[in-house]
Amino acid sequence: MNIKQEVGKCDPFTLGPLEAGPACSDPLPVIQVKDLSLRYHGKLALKEVSLDIYKGCITALIGPSGCGKTSLLSAINRLTDLIPGCSVNGRILVQGRNIYDPDESVQALRRQVGMVFQKPAPFPLSIRRNLSLPLHEHGITRKAEVADISEQALRDVGLWDEVCDRMDSAALNLSGGQQQRLCIARALALQPQILLMDEPCSALDPIASGVVEDLICRLRGRYTVVIVTHNLAQARRIANYAAFFWVSGHAGQLIEFGRCQKIFESPRHELTAAYVNGVRG
Ligand SMILES: Nc1ncnc2c1ncn2[C@@H]1O[C@H](COP(=O)(O)OP(=O)(O)OP(=O)(O)O)[C@@H](O)[C@H]1O
Ligand SMILES: [Mg+2]
Repeated sequence: MNIKQEVGKCDPFTLGPLEAGPACSDPLPVIQVKDLSLRYHGKLALKEVSLDIYKGCITALIGPSGCGKTSLLSAINRLTDLIPGCSVNGRILVQGRNIYDPDESVQALRRQVGMVFQKPAPFPLSIRRNLSLPLHEHGITRKAEVADISEQALRDVGLWDEVCDRMDSAALNLSGGQQQRLCIARALALQPQILLMDEPCSALDPIASGVVEDLICRLRGRYTVVIVTHNLAQARRIANYAAFFWVSGHAGQLIEFGRCQKIFESPRHELTAAYVNGVRG
């Protein structure tokens, strides 16, 4: 795959200096989900999911509402620890380490694995503080360093020119699309290797959605991106791999995983075919 061509495909807008990295022609698993079952108050929500996520690639999680896409993302950076009644069985290896091992540091994991949510959720603070707060929490406190990292993250998401003269004004005064890019910048500032995105464009208008989509394309190669989207056209445009989930017997299950083109054009499973063709789901 020619990464420049791939990026060019979804490039109606030109953002900052972030350049796409190398294509993921040599798949190397960076996240390995092994036999993962997830329950809320004992009720199964995800059943025995096994899946590899490849380094530097964009992987789309698709499937109907309630099939466990958000639950899987939450399990990958242990946000599940914070959900009352949520329990996880099985293993998730990130760079070969079992993140549920009692010796693993959740703080270190969250630095390595960033998350962006559906609804832009900036802190009710200034733009500057939105970026500096997580850096401070992770021990980066030198003023000049914080300023440099913040500027670079804002440049990476194409927001610097729009906000550089109002860094001390409230983040909540930004438009929805700008807020979402700020949240992505906030995640990128910690230099994670992996970025989990839960329907990052669904609350945005088509223009803002296009800008964020273009940004996600630019992350390919240097970040491993796992994105949940209900927008199948978007999944098709941006993802290298797709995982299709379905609810069966009240629990979400992985039906099929593979190269995105294969999932959309010649899926193995009839449920996948029905879903991607809009017949079911
Ligand atoms: N905090 C929770 N407590 C109890 N049940 C939950 C909780 N979060 C999710 N569930 C249940 O787990 C199942 C999977 O939910 P999840 O949010 O992961 O699905 P999803 O695929 O992300 O859906 P959507 O596309 O609507 O966002 C659903 O049946 C849901 O009701
Ligand atoms: Mg969800």
